[in-house]
Amino acid sequence: MNAQRAASAEEVGKALRTEAARIEARLDACLRAGACPAGLLDAMRYSLFAGGKRVRPVLCVLSARVPVPPDPDLADAVLTFACALECIHTYSLIHDDLPAMDDDDFRRGKPSCHKQFGEAAAILAGDALLTEAFALAAGCAGPALPAGRVLRAVAATAKAAGPAGMVGGQFLDMLYTGAANPRLGQAAGARAVQGGILPGRAAAGTRSGQSGAAPRFAQPASVRAGQNGDGPGLEDLAAMQAMKTGAMLRLPCEVGAVLAGASPETAGALARYGTALGAAFQITDDILDIAGDAALLGKPVGSDGAARKCTYPALLGLQKSRESAEQHAETAVTALDGLEGESAALLRGLAAYVVNRVS
Ligand code: IPE
Ligand code: IPE
Ligand code: MG
Ligand code: MG
Ligand code: MG
Repeated sequence: MNAQRAASAEEVGKALRTEAARIEARLDACLRAGACPAGLLDAMRYSLFAGGKRVRPVLCVLSARVPVPPDPDLADAVLTFACALECIHTYSLIHDDLPAMDDDDFRRGKPSCHKQFGEAAAILAGDALLTEAFALAAGCAGPALPAGRVLRAVAATAKAAGPAGMVGGQFLDMLYTGAANPRLGQAAGARAVQGGILPGRAAAGTRSGQSGAAPRFAQPASVRAGQNGDGPGLEDLAAMQAMKTGAMLRLPCEVGAVLAGASPETAGALARYGTALGAAFQITDDILDIAGDAALLGKPVGSDGAARKCTYPALLGLQKSRESAEQHAETAVTALDGLEGESAALLRGLAAYVVNRVS
């Protein structure tokens, strides 16, 4: 196969279906009755098996195949680690839909976890998926997968899922939401950003490139967005999305490389790919909230606008948002320059899939 080849949409679709089936079978085997109360397991499995695309675990298993085709035992251990990432992602969706956050009633084509089981069970199902994920991940160490690699991958997972990653980004998302609880801003928003726990950024942000639809946040960006009357700008939005979504899309690529013992060059290329893919993924998600079909998405459209969320379409309009997503997808493809093989070709093809998807 040509080193620079990108897999076609058909090939990507087929690979996603094949890998997703393997991931779901392993998830099913991993999340079975045990010491867990039956009602809690029901809520966990309800959301987990409601039909997600499984993009994150697929990225993990493909990334682990880029350096060398792994031996079957290593591939088997990587598959379980990939399932742990899907558990964390599913927990983030359950909590994201809660009334205190995005207050969305549908997810993956079914009533959201809290609509089906109530808020207490949904909160606890999310907590349980998160903690169980770390048990699954740590348990991957064995003869085929050295404990040192697993430890590095677990540390990367905690970082990406936690306050400097997804959870921190979700906090900023709520801070930037039009109707957000003002206590978020007053309490810890600006201090957390400035205090070093979150990535450093310029004090004064970029002006949003205005065009098309009237922007909701016309003021200059500020890390104190929401505190001084200014709204978040493009730089704030990019940083927030890199945390809330980008971290959990870069992570599987990074972890795949670590678990497979990739060279620093290959690991770096996969991490750059995942970072750009994450940006393309969330911008496309924001676009689909306006231009998508709820029946295909399995979740409501118009939810961001109703909540006055800070999104790319809100700041830039749809056309410029589409261009931005395309640019990030191209950056992702370029990051893999020089990497050969079928898995790298599939990853290149996945970049196009991410921006062209309808679900
Ligand atoms: C939705 O993620 C949440 C975002 C980070 C945009 P996905 O679009 O991957 O959702 P599922 O897993 O397929 O349901
Ligand atoms: C959520 O972003 C990202 C997460 C970390 C779950 P969104 O709130 O836009 O995701 P959807 O549109 O509800 O899936
Ligand atoms: Mg959200
Ligand atoms: Mg949401
Ligand atoms: Mg969304």
